[in-house]
Amino acid sequence: MTQDELKQKVAQAALEYIKDVPVIGVGTGSTVNHFINYLADMKGSIDGAVSSSVGTTERLKSLGIPVLDLNEVGTLEVYVDGADEINPHKQLIKGGGAALTREKIIAAASKTFVCIADDSKRVDVLGKFPLPVEVIPMSRSYVARELVKLGGQPVWREGCVTDNHNHILDVHNLNILDPIKLEQAINQITGVITVGLFAMRPADVVLVCQGETIVKF
Ligand code: A5P
Repeated sequence: MTQDELKQKVAQAALEYIKDVPVIGVGTGSTVNHFINYLADMKGSIDGAVSSSVGTTERLKSLGIPVLDLNEVGTLEVYVDGADEINPHKQLIKGGGAALTREKIIAAASKTFVCIADDSKRVDVLGKFPLPVEVIPMSRSYVARELVKLGGQPVWREGCVTDNHNHILDVHNLNILDPIKLEQAINQITGVITVGLFAMRPADVVLVCQGETIVKF
């Protein structure tokens, strides 16, 4: 199976979690794009979706799926999203697609966060994938200096402006042995909007496609 076929297969497996769910939180990325295609097949039986990015909103709308405002919907039953890295505790690195802030908001507002990924995303220790941090543009250099103090090597994702009109620093060379502690420390830096560590609010269910098999943990 190609990596794209693995993503499609795991996206299909997530359908199990949205039976009788009227409004679904929808993440961002190539794995979730497959999930959106499946969602389109069942759009007659759902009220709509809450979207985590402009890109996802456009895709949902183009397939005729109503996009709803989180403020109107309240608590979501289920949120389905991908990840860039997943550890055995279901803690994640996210934000490779720069959508981390809205993704984190939807994860926080959801009862069940179902993370879907191909097997390449599984790691024992988070940090090989550079950790994205969304920052207010004028704080970028200051935040970068603070991140160096925490042991990372931040690199400005030049040319990337988030849906919230902010910048991204990708922090390299972190060996994240205590994800909750690091998430809290980065959250404390003035100018940081969101860190793409999902440790305080990890996934509830992870589905990973390993060849023909869906592994759930
Ligand atoms: C988007 O900002 C990310 O958090 C994505 O969830 C992550 O990059 C996964 O993307 P793929 O499904 O394309 O690997």
